[in-house]
Amino acid sequence: MSKSSFLLLLDIFVILMLCISLCHGAVDDDRKVYIAYLGSAPDRDYIATSQHSTMLQALSTHSSVENYLIRSYKRSFNGFAAKLTNEEAKKLASFKEVVSVFPSKVYHLHTTRSWDFLGLNQTTKRNATAESNVIVGVIDSGIWPESDSFSDEGFGPPPKKWKGACKGGQNFTCNKKLIGARVYATDSARDMDGHGSHTASTAAGINVRNASFYGLAEGIARGGVPSARIAAYKVCDDTGCTSEDILAAFDDAIADGNDLLSVSLGPESSSEFYLDPIAIGAFHAAEKGVLVVQSAGNSGLAGFQSVASVAPWILSVAASTTDRHFVDKIVLGNGKIQTGLSINSFSLNRTKVPLVYGLQASSDCDEFSARLCLPNCLNKTLVKKKIILCDDMQGVDEAYNAGALGLITKYRSNDVSFVVPLPAITLSSKDYDSVTSYLNSTKQPKAKILRSETITDKFAPIVASFSSKGPNFIVPDILKPDISAPGVDILAAYSPVASPSITTTDKRRVKYNIISGTSMSCPHVAGAAAYVKTFHPHWSPSTIKSALMTTAFPMDALRNQGAEFAFGSGHINPVKAIDPGLVYNTVKGDNIRFLCSIGYDEGSIKNIAGNNTSCPKTNTKMLPRDFNYPTLTTLVPAGKPFKVTFHRTVTNVGVARSTYNATIATLSELEIKVVPQVLSFKSLTEKKSYNVTVSGKALGEQSMVSATLIWSDGTHNVRSSIVIHTYEGVRRAV
Ligand SMILES: *[C@@H]1O[C@H](CO)[C@@H](O)[C@H](O)[C@H]1NC(C)=O
Ligand SMILES: *[C@@H]1O[C@H](CO)[C@@H](O)[C@H](O)[C@H]1NC(C)=O
Ligand SMILES: *[C@@H]1O[C@H](CO)[C@@H](O)[C@H](O)[C@H]1NC(C)=O
Ligand SMILES: *[C@@H]1O[C@H](CO)[C@@H](O)[C@H](O)[C@H]1NC(C)=O
Ligand SMILES: *[C@@H]1O[C@H](CO)[C@@H](O)[C@H](O)[C@H]1NC(C)=O
Ligand SMILES: *[C@@H]1O[C@H](CO)[C@@H](O)[C@H](O)[C@H]1NC(C)=O
Ligand SMILES: *[C@@H]1O[C@H](CO)[C@@H](O)[C@H](O)[C@H]1NC(C)=O
Ligand SMILES: *[C@@H]1O[C@H](CO)[C@@H](O)[C@H](O)[C@H]1NC(C)=O
Ligand SMILES: *[C@@H]1O[C@H](CO)[C@@H](O)[C@H](O)[C@H]1NC(C)=O
Ligand SMILES: *[C@@H]1O[C@H](CO)[C@@H](O)[C@H](O)[C@H]1NC(C)=O
Ligand SMILES: *[C@@H]1O[C@H](CO)[C@@H](O)[C@H](O)[C@H]1NC(C)=O
Repeated sequence: MSKSSFLLLLDIFVILMLCISLCHGAVDDDRKVYIAYLGSAPDRDYIATSQHSTMLQALSTHSSVENYLIRSYKRSFNGFAAKLTNEEAKKLASFKEVVSVFPSKVYHLHTTRSWDFLGLNQTTKRNATAESNVIVGVIDSGIWPESDSFSDEGFGPPPKKWKGACKGGQNFTCNKKLIGARVYATDSARDMDGHGSHTASTAAGINVRNASFYGLAEGIARGGVPSARIAAYKVCDDTGCTSEDILAAFDDAIADGNDLLSVSLGPESSSEFYLDPIAIGAFHAAEKGVLVVQSAGNSGLAGFQSVASVAPWILSVAASTTDRHFVDKIVLGNGKIQTGLSINSFSLNRTKVPLVYGLQASSDCDEFSARLCLPNCLNKTLVKKKIILCDDMQGVDEAYNAGALGLITKYRSNDVSFVVPLPAITLSSKDYDSVTSYLNSTKQPKAKILRSETITDKFAPIVASFSSKGPNFIVPDILKPDISAPGVDILAAYSPVASPSITTTDKRRVKYNIISGTSMSCPHVAGAAAYVKTFHPHWSPSTIKSALMTTAFPMDALRNQGAEFAFGSGHINPVKAIDPGLVYNTVKGDNIRFLCSIGYDEGSIKNIAGNNTSCPKTNTKMLPRDFNYPTLTTLVPAGKPFKVTFHRTVTNVGVARSTYNATIATLSELEIKVVPQVLSFKSLTEKKSYNVTVSGKALGEQSMVSATLIWSDGTHNVRSSIVIHTYEGVRRAV
């Protein structure tokens, strides 16, 4: 596997290919990259760059230390990244202007039909004028500016509020659709990977007719808001995405005037907010009215508490299936047909060809490696004109490189199909075993692999097995992920210089490709948020987030392992979200009060917010579960009956004179009281508070119970999940 596909592979195949995380912090002799955070940027006249150099000079008698300055942040907050020795980093941390110093980490990048599936189709009501005023910033692996999806035909000049620039490097031109680009990793914002073009076009690509992957998934490729503008911030290169580049992109993207940011990348596991550049960047974005949408992560196969996007000011997105599913078939010499998964664009028109097991087609490998078809195991002579059988999906690279005609292998999860570089199919273990027993029982085993076809999946949407699951390890009282959206087998624009498949040596090049990941679901929610913004240009990030969450389609707790820990509020429903009735929004200072509530001291809060804050005294302190969130979640101690109360405030954004009644639905043995039962409003923007008390019997260790609260005026159904669980996180139940 070459480096250039590492991002993408990690993104989708993180568990599948058993990739092990690379590098933490780039090393240059004994120097590592550290981020020095100096706080929020004052409004004007700030001479940050010289301040940064001065501080670096003061670190050492070595006059060249300032040459180690990598980034200066000064537009949306103040700070810098530099290569420092451990001693210098320690010394820097002791400077009084310095809020915090932390080491850089490396982060990883985690259509057509999907928007129809979401009910945002060609006939949906839109206001193109308002839409063309919305700017979606995409922090990713860059963008392919010449892609059909980013053509600016019919677009007017960029909105007046745009303060960004086109600084994508040489031979990179923006247009009236792609209005800005900046580059932090490498020297060109051009997307060599495909990921960034895919996410940007999913959020806001224009309508492109007859897009397909070799005729598969053919249709009109389009984003959620085809008339909106795009700005690309390239923070990832072929080795990953660093903390300092991510922070630099947030610093610019907030100041440039983006309305919202789509961030399909993240760490492999959650961390405290003051160590997470995305949480810090998004905090400042939220304060400035910019909603940040982030992928939940692709570590779902690792189990519960795997969700990596955990801050309450971020909208964190799980990935689910759509009703379009890619399958293919093999026909064995004995006439038996097996159905499997893969995106196989090849038609093998020969009848049936000889079938051989990897173990028998290998000359130089030990038995274990030969069965899996690990690199350099297969003998080219022995696989020529044959379909090869390998015990693991990793064998796809070797089968292709050795020149096999086709490949039959096993899948690790039955809900995703991957683009393959040769006629290849993945089967369940059971079906795979039946192929091997056929092979063992026949002198001249033969098979044929058919081209993929699409079928309708009537159970969709189901959260993908790879999609990271809650509960939230950092704040067990905030449900994460927040929402689910399509992230399985999504067709969207791609980089025409990248391999379309999981195999980097694949020589094919495409303009549209089918890929999977929470990286793909994130821009669906960003597009939906942008759609809501076109109807409500002045809604705050927390208001838009609440509108999307409370109007989400309920998902089936019985079909989705982990239930609310898999899908959060449910499946996104953009059309409903423009008219949510009531919203749970936060007001200035709430995010800080929340940080106080989880026990962060003033120092830690300063590390996030960047300035001096004092937390209220303990007796007036709010509880984290009382943060005015659209879902109601709390951690309780296992083994004891519990009784907990949540406090919430809703704001009327529906009909001025309206009355909402509360109803509760639950499959669990819970006693739930809502006080008051009825909320009456006389005007728009009026606020009303209510309390919910949930009591129940003792729960076992690592268990959860849930319910749904709906406020309804007969037209609007404002839905909130209630989740009580016993998964201890960094913070324990008291
Ligand atoms: C488009 O979506 C709306 C819901 O937003 C639905 O009522 C309508 O039937 C859909 N139209 C088509 C052609 O799919
Ligand atoms: C469309 O949006 C523009 C700008 O926000 C607004 O002036 C206009 O009234 C809207 N048109 C409709 C039909 O809502
Ligand atoms: C600019 O990039 C495009 C797309 O890769 C390429 O076709 C063209 O040759 C490049 N032009 C120059 C001058 O490098
Ligand atoms: C659509 O694309 C396919 C191949 O992807 C091509 O064969 C066909 O001619 C195209 N149709 C139109 C109308 O452009
Ligand atoms: C497949 O069949 C087509 C005609 O049906 C022929 O043109 C083509 O050469 C064949 N390809 C192979 C690989 O046999
Ligand atoms: C590959 O297999 C052929 C036929 O069995 C054999 O002659 C050849 O030596 C093998 N090649 C290697 C590199 O082992
Ligand atoms: C088929 O034979 C191989 C050894 O050649 C063996 O490892 C495998 O278990 C056999 N499979 C079945 C299903 O009998
Ligand atoms: C402190 O930071 C918060 C969040 O960025 C901001 O709202 C507030 O205005 C800042 N206060 C001062 C005094 O800078
Ligand atoms: C923060 O507050 C402390 C004490 O209230 C004060 O000494 C310090 O100068 C303040 N720092 C900043 C950056 O305002
Ligand atoms: C909710 O509970 C708080 C105390 O926990 C109380 O002060 C408040 O009056 C209650 N609100 C309602 C609407 O009952
Ligand atoms: C709300 O409840 C009242 C009585 O409790 C009832 O009269 C009214 O119809 C209900 N409204 C809705 C929208 O269900």
